[in-house]
Amino acid sequence: MMAAPDVMKNVQPKLSGLEKGTRTLNLAGHVGFDSLPDQLVNKSVAQGFCFNILCVGETGIGKSTLMDTLFNTHFNSSPSTHDLPGVKLKGHSYELQESNVRLKLTVVDSVGFGDQIDKSDSYKSIVEFIDKQFENYLQEELKIKRNIHIYHDTRIHTCLYFIAPTGHSLKSLDLVTMKALDSKVNIIPVIAKADTITKVELHKFKMKIMSELVSNGVQIYQFPTEDETVADLNSTMNSHLPFAVVGSTEEVKVGNKMVKARQYPWGTVQVENENHCDFVKLREMLVRTNMEDLREQTHNRHYELYRRCKLQEMGFSDNDSMSLTESYTQKHTQHIAELQKKEDEMTQMFVVRVKEKEQDLKEAEKELHSKFDNLKKQHAEEKKKLEDQKRHLEEQMNLFGKKKAVTLQAQQQAQLQAQQAATMGKGRKK
Ligand code: GTP
Ligand code: MG
Repeated sequence: MMAAPDVMKNVQPKLSGLEKGTRTLNLAGHVGFDSLPDQLVNKSVAQGFCFNILCVGETGIGKSTLMDTLFNTHFNSSPSTHDLPGVKLKGHSYELQESNVRLKLTVVDSVGFGDQIDKSDSYKSIVEFIDKQFENYLQEELKIKRNIHIYHDTRIHTCLYFIAPTGHSLKSLDLVTMKALDSKVNIIPVIAKADTITKVELHKFKMKIMSELVSNGVQIYQFPTEDETVADLNSTMNSHLPFAVVGSTEEVKVGNKMVKARQYPWGTVQVENENHCDFVKLREMLVRTNMEDLREQTHNRHYELYRRCKLQEMGFSDNDSMSLTESYTQKHTQHIAELQKKEDEMTQMFVVRVKEKEQDLKEAEKELHSKFDNLKKQHAEEKKKLEDQKRHLEEQMNLFGKKKAVTLQAQQQAQLQAQQAATMGKGRKK
């Protein structure tokens, strides 16, 4: 890879005392370390590679068909429904092998994208998913016993953004989503189902899309032009973006060859015919030329940005005057001080709350006492009233008893007198 000398000057770190004194020597004979690149290749091939693609696009826009067409296989995808309440990210991993190269491919689908009435939050779950993969990698890196070489890296290396072939312009959902993703992932926009759009319309549509992306500050992935072996090809391809793609795994006989195509009553669209669509360009750029660059960009640019922000959040900085241990100690002390402050605040709050509660309880007790006194007073009054009534009734009863006795006595006297009178009457008759 050729690097411009000016650029190199800017990116080279300051030389330490040891490096400054490094001298260039000539070898007197063959040593053998020129086999290092081969050793590297052999090691990488033995380890295998991993590549993760995220497909973002409306339900039914042709994501699964394009993936099947790109990798010449049938991934186990099933169509989604249009009634999901939110966007979900679903990934499937596959082991593929071509000659002696093993590829662990993960295809992640944005299920339900664009199906909600309120689409303002659609991008959030995608951003969260991408960040989660970065976080997992960072956690693995931060482990004391880390296994980065056997770790299944799930960081997204590229996001194929499927644009609906409207021929008009990008939808606001497209712009909002791509803007939210552009600092986190390599976005390659593609115009889906490009067989539904005419040649003239397609040209205008591509120009419109690119101007909209530029005016909204959306950064899409640019195929690298630093490596002179692919610089021409990549810069030409950059001018063809966004690729207009057609997907199909159906084999149709054209002439005496079987080709992947979509058949219509009026003709056949050949997927791998560059006059019909940009599928070949996409495959060339994504799989055959720039897969490693996409992996590198993910690690060196997007993951690095995530890692930097996370470490800064955790209090680390590249401050020359402070070592990692010092930064950690400083952050730790800060953290302890914050915790202590919080604890003090909570204790104070607790004391205030307890006092308030105590006051409330005292008031309630006072109220209860006064209620009890009132009740006692009422009870005494009632008792006095009842006793008065009892005394009055007893007096009446006594009076009544006396009257009764007088009456009885009078009755008895009257009876006696009557008997006496009757005895006297009988005596006179005789
Ligand atoms: P979900 O996973 O359900 O969101 O759908 P998807 O985006 O994976 O779309 P899928 O590949 O299942 O395709 C949906 C329909 O579009 C199928 O009937 C495909 O045959 C058709 N289709 C896929 N690619 C193309 C294309 O390039 N052009 C046209 N005209 N139709 C296509
Ligand atoms: Mg699908």
